[in-house]
Amino acid sequence: MGLSLRTWVASILLLTHLVHGALSWGVGGHYAVCKIAQSYFEKNTLVAVKKLLPAYANGELAAVCSWPDEIKRRPEWNWTYALHYADTPNYECNYEYSRDCRNGKCVTGAIFNYVSHLVFQFHYNLTEALLFVSHFMGDVHQPLHEGFKGDQGGNNVKLNWYNQETNLHRVCDDKIIESALKKYYNSSLSVMIHSLLNKLEYGWSNDVPSWESCPGHQTVCPNRYASESIDLACKYAYKDATTGTTLGDYYFLSRLYIVEKRIAQGGIRLAATLNRIFSSNSEARCSMKLRLSCNGGIKVM
Ligand SMILES: *[C@@H]1O[C@H](CO)[C@@H](O)[C@H](O)[C@H]1NC(C)=O
Ligand SMILES: *[C@@H]1O[C@H](CO)[C@@H](O)[C@H](O)[C@H]1NC(C)=O
Ligand SMILES: *[C@@H]1O[C@H](CO)[C@@H](O)[C@H](O)[C@H]1NC(C)=O
Repeated sequence: MGLSLRTWVASILLLTHLVHGALSWGVGGHYAVCKIAQSYFEKNTLVAVKKLLPAYANGELAAVCSWPDEIKRRPEWNWTYALHYADTPNYECNYEYSRDCRNGKCVTGAIFNYVSHLVFQFHYNLTEALLFVSHFMGDVHQPLHEGFKGDQGGNNVKLNWYNQETNLHRVCDDKIIESALKKYYNSSLSVMIHSLLNKLEYGWSNDVPSWESCPGHQTVCPNRYASESIDLACKYAYKDATTGTTLGDYYFLSRLYIVEKRIAQGGIRLAATLNRIFSSNSEARCSMKLRLSCNGGIKVM
């Protein structure tokens, strides 16, 4: 396990440096979410995260944030496959935990679960818990990870992205990001991340406090993020994107802002959650633990 993660990290680092353009909430989206989060970590969080990261991540959470995607199809890990999404009933355009997350086996349930591992320091491997939380925080912000059950979150909506055959899920995972890298960011993920950090500081700064906070001071509130996602999926992702259509400039230019904002929100909320978990203030931590348990967050798998 350790060795394969190490090999995998090495190949991702290579990818990141060599073929920016080919990167994609595929690898690129997750990298961006975690890289943005890192720049919002408080001091205690930085220390705690570095302690949990494998040495070969070189202190970079972003370098290992796609690990759950890499393992999810392996026989010993395929029980994690359903933890990456929370599909919703066709055309309902809303999300409900009890309906869409049976037995906690979905992306929101997984976030509750692994956050409680980190808060309570259960005996579960906390390195893995950190990587799962970091990855699923990205996934829950991708609108089609809360897409319709009937088309598997857009995976069965086969269409064209410009002249390329693909499906709607991949458009939202990768294609919009890839096209943006080429058109606006000099084919460089780090240029894009830099631009998002700038937007966070100067454009979205007034929104950031409301993105960070959770109702009732919960540690994390993935149900809210999932509700936002299916709302965006209905209003933007599915709109004008039926099977057989060709998506081009109009779709790209009108949806890019949403993809960028969701990546930024994912990063901000990952940082806010980890900051709350690793807060130095033990009194705050204690009351946070109570809140977490009061809010039905304890779902150990
Ligand atoms: C925790 O998980 C990571 C990643 O799977 C692995 O490399 C590491 O050896 C594990 N640590 C322990 C103590 O099992
Ligand atoms: C996981 O893989 C095993 C072996 O290939 C298979 O029997 C099982 O149905 C898979 N489970 C899931 C949830 O995909
Ligand atoms: C764009 O990328 C190329 C290749 O990496 C680099 O040489 C060039 O300086 C970059 N341009 C800008 C404006 O950053």
